[in-house]
Amino acid sequence: MKNLVILTGAGMSAESGISTFRDAGGLWDQYPVEQVATPEGYAANPKLVIDFYNARRKQLLTVKPNHGHELVAELEKYFNVTVITQNVDNLHECAGSSRVIHLHGELTKVTSSRQPNNPKYIKELKPEEFEVKMGDLAADGSQLRPFIVWFGESVPMIETAMEYAEKADIFLIIGTSLNVYPAAGLLNYVPRAASVYLIDPKQVPIASGREVHVIQKGASEGMEEFKKILLG
Ligand code: APR
Repeated sequence: MKNLVILTGAGMSAESGISTFRDAGGLWDQYPVEQVATPEGYAANPKLVIDFYNARRKQLLTVKPNHGHELVAELEKYFNVTVITQNVDNLHECAGSSRVIHLHGELTKVTSSRQPNNPKYIKELKPEEFEVKMGDLAADGSQLRPFIVWFGESVPMIETAMEYAEKADIFLIIGTSLNVYPAAGLLNYVPRAASVYLIDPKQVPIASGREVHVIQKGASEGMEEFKKILLG
């Protein structure tokens, strides 16, 4: 089976009712990013940050994968699929995708404030634990923080993502403005011989100078078209 590597961003989950970040009215219009998604913001006001992610988790309980997520999962019948997502929701997993690499962390997990990437302290929350409080502690005694990669922090999963990108026969990008590195640079690791597709209702500038087959549609419709192109 061919290796199909799919890089997804917030647009993948837009049709499930989760706001994107940089579209008009997106999350970064509603909340100052430096307050809720940086280590400095967390140090200045941990409660604000914890509450912000509590609200994101609460929303997760009310949303479902969309048809686009379902088609991504269905393609495992025909391809060796790896999903590399910038999204912190779990909708790819809910739709049945079996290999999902989360570059920017996962809403359903929490970790130590002191050593956020130490696997010893990363904990999966049950839905009834989704509301984290000030004073809830990690196993090292520090405040439990969201298992989210904030701006300015390292992206430990990028190495694994690069390894899969390097083995792609087909690389598909869905619903990301490609503004945030290192995720946006993954295309540079994709072999020249691989075919590259992009699904997004807007035009997304790509700097790599390589041929990209653009499907200018939303995730669900775009995935239908992608499936038709590949499988007829
Ligand atoms: N289907 C597909 N794509 C869509 C849809 C849709 N229905 N609706 C919007 N989009 C596209 C937008 O056109 C845009 O190109 O999704 C993209 C969303 O871009 P961003 O809001 O910038 O989200 P993303 O690229 O995932 O952001 C990257 O930045 O804020 C951080 O850590 C956060 O993971 C996030 C990262």
